[in-house]
Amino acid sequence: MRITVCCTDTKVGPWIEALQSLLPEARIEQWRPGAPQADHAVVWSPPQQFLDEQPRLKGIFNIGAGVDALLKLRLPPDPVVVRLDDAGMSVQMAEFVCHAVIRHFREFDAYAREGGTGNWGLRRPRLRSEFPVGVLGLGVLGQRVAQAVAGFEFPVLGWSRGGKEVPGVRCYAGEAELSAFLAATRVLVCLLPLTPETGNILNRESLSRLQSGGYLINVARGGHLVDEDLLALLDSGHLAGAALDVFRTEPLPADHPFWRHPKIVVTPHVSARTLRDESAAQIARKIRAMQAGQPIAGVVDRQRGY
Ligand code: NAP
Ligand code: GLV
Repeated sequence: MRITVCCTDTKVGPWIEALQSLLPEARIEQWRPGAPQADHAVVWSPPQQFLDEQPRLKGIFNIGAGVDALLKLRLPPDPVVVRLDDAGMSVQMAEFVCHAVIRHFREFDAYAREGGTGNWGLRRPRLRSEFPVGVLGLGVLGQRVAQAVAGFEFPVLGWSRGGKEVPGVRCYAGEAELSAFLAATRVLVCLLPLTPETGNILNRESLSRLQSGGYLINVARGGHLVDEDLLALLDSGHLAGAALDVFRTEPLPADHPFWRHPKIVVTPHVSARTLRDESAAQIARKIRAMQAGQPIAGVVDRQRGY
């Protein structure tokens, strides 16, 4: 079995080492133009040339959860596209979102500012019943996040396409229930995949429907958010702030207004990192299962886009 690894912006050597130790029988190599045909590929944002030159792949394993960049390319028709299925990401995402919700709710930024001036000032406690948290997307990451936030006794709502049942979470489904979901939400967390249906979903109309004093946490993709609409709603006072981890252009350009906006906290796409050892182990298990003709989790539906 031959496996080719083609990952941009990623050190490929340690991935090959990790995969080779788990699949000693395989021949695992970094892809180069003109390389021999492989049975499986491990990829992150590969160039189009890679896909054009590897038409006989059985499986394409993405080393991230989101496959939006991969699906923008012209893929050969046959290979199964497989995304990372948690692999240590959901706990990181739960940490990140709980931290952002609590930082906002408990006004820790204000305490940090006042602490710097030597002011022993108490702020009036806020009621968590007035901070319902709505999670867009109840997949592998969204469900874990929703339940982690519910653990802090915030009211939690969730929205998905087909409808879900998640203990402790009021669930909404589909376009028809989006308005009701937004109207019942004050802190909005985006954990949707970026697809033709979800691009620009965080826009003036949808964000205006949030409860007054709303707060946005975008940890999915920059293409979900219409940047100018967020800035307008922050400046009008309808939204109280935003924690943004993902951007249309990454790295976020130095002159982008998000960097200096007093109500926006920027992080550089770190809410849930790919953990190499756990991810390589998951991919190796799935390659073995595919070779044995067994079903695997995390197969992407190319039509739906996730
Ligand atoms: P997932 O398991 O595929 O879950 C996606 C969820 O979104 C599902 O609940 C799905 O509904 C819902 N959804 C998709 N399209 C929808 C639509 N048109 N209307 C309503 N709901 C829709 O994905 P995941 O593993 O949780 O990851 C989500 C995204 O997080 C990834 O695609 C990636 O972009 C992002 N991410 C970001 C980072 C980071 O570091 N910032 C790290 C990892 C992932 P159904 O359940 O009904 O299908
Ligand atoms: C990261 O953003 C991922 O999709 O895994």
